[in-house]
Amino acid sequence: MDARTAPLLWMPRVPAAPAPTDGALHDRRQRPWRDLRISLTDRCNFRCGYCMPRSRFGPGHRFLPQAQLLSFEEITQVARQALALGVRTLRLTGGEPLLRRDLTRLIRQLAALRTPDGRPPDLALTSNGSLLAGQAEALREAGLARLTVSLDALDDAVFRRMNDVGFPVAEVLRGLDAAQRAGFERIKVNMVVRRGVNDGEALALAGHFRANYGGAMVLRFIEFMDAGCHNGWKMDEVLPSDELRARIAARWPLQPLPATRGGETAQRWRYADGAGEIGFISSVSHAFCGDCTRARLTADGRLYTCLFATQGHDLRPLLRGAQGGEAELRARLAAIWADRADAYSEQREALRPLRPERADMHVLGG
Ligand code: GTP
Ligand code: 5AD
Ligand code: SF4
Ligand code: SF4
Repeated sequence: MDARTAPLLWMPRVPAAPAPTDGALHDRRQRPWRDLRISLTDRCNFRCGYCMPRSRFGPGHRFLPQAQLLSFEEITQVARQALALGVRTLRLTGGEPLLRRDLTRLIRQLAALRTPDGRPPDLALTSNGSLLAGQAEALREAGLARLTVSLDALDDAVFRRMNDVGFPVAEVLRGLDAAQRAGFERIKVNMVVRRGVNDGEALALAGHFRANYGGAMVLRFIEFMDAGCHNGWKMDEVLPSDELRARIAARWPLQPLPATRGGETAQRWRYADGAGEIGFISSVSHAFCGDCTRARLTADGRLYTCLFATQGHDLRPLLRGAQGGEAELRARLAAIWADRADAYSEQREALRPLRPERADMHVLGG
């Protein structure tokens, strides 16, 4: 057993779940595995302070060498076995996934996979939107079904500060327009909110997406999280969703919406006047570990069962080794999920000091 796959000694042991009656794979907290988030690269052309602060990810930072990245064939192998085990959603992430060369070839391969009951996977991608204007149509044609774009401000100066590479907001908005023209429906827009940094932009963004796109884009506010170890996270900078929602509702009254499915990250609300929907992802103030159905595959083939884990399970020996058959890969994935007991956000206070080496967000893909 290598250091990366060794069990964490301090992890509370949760008794194994009773055998599920529906035949689905469940973890120790009886959560099924439904989502596989696949990071395609640890590189990004932005330097958002809450994810890849410049002070840490400067010119000297060494990204993964090309040879260590999983090939599209290897990614597809993992996805195929994950679908066989009950996964429904494949979400491509990064770093910035649109930086990965020949991405449409991978999308075609993944879109051609089928679940055991013959359905295509729910194929989604999360991007910073900077390269979307030039790629939206090709992504859609290749079979990408759903798109999420990160956007932390509407004001150009604030946006340039947030991405810290001086990238103009107009180009991301051009990408969103192109995505809508390409036929993506219900595009989600994620804003990470930091109190005192960009919270002043929340109402402006809400107003923008109410007024444009016929209410078709869903803006979601994400509480600033202590992901990774380099973003200087402080509770003071977390704007709890309840407070933000009150600010928005004071301007535009809101009504709650039911969850669309189990394991959803966002609490959904609609504008009472019918101008569309917004969401709140409140991992700090209202942890949603109870029905977390997500695992994350890094670009170099490690499977993480929590966004706040310190280590992943290296799948490369299986994918590249002589004995790397499909059955072995599936058994390994099933064993990893069955042994999972993660619930970091529920136990943040207790676990934070015990996990000084949490994996970086741009490596795990958010
Ligand atoms: P949908 O399938 O459209 O619901 O996507 P999603 O909300 O799972 O994906 P997206 O990439 O838009 O995730 C939004 C953000 O929610 C992420 O970037 C994270 O900041 C946060 N998030 C997603 N999954 C988790 C999770 O398992 N735990 C925590 N703490 N935060 C998460
Ligand atoms: N807290 C909250 N959200 C974060 N993201 C990256 N780092 C953080 C953090 N520390 C978000 C990005 C993007 C998604 C992939 O993760 O803004 O929407
Ligand atoms: Fe890049 Fe997204 Fe991280 Fe910003 S949050 S640095 S866009 S990976
Ligand atoms: Fe899932 Fe870990 Fe996030 Fe909880 S903290 S919702 S277990 S990824």
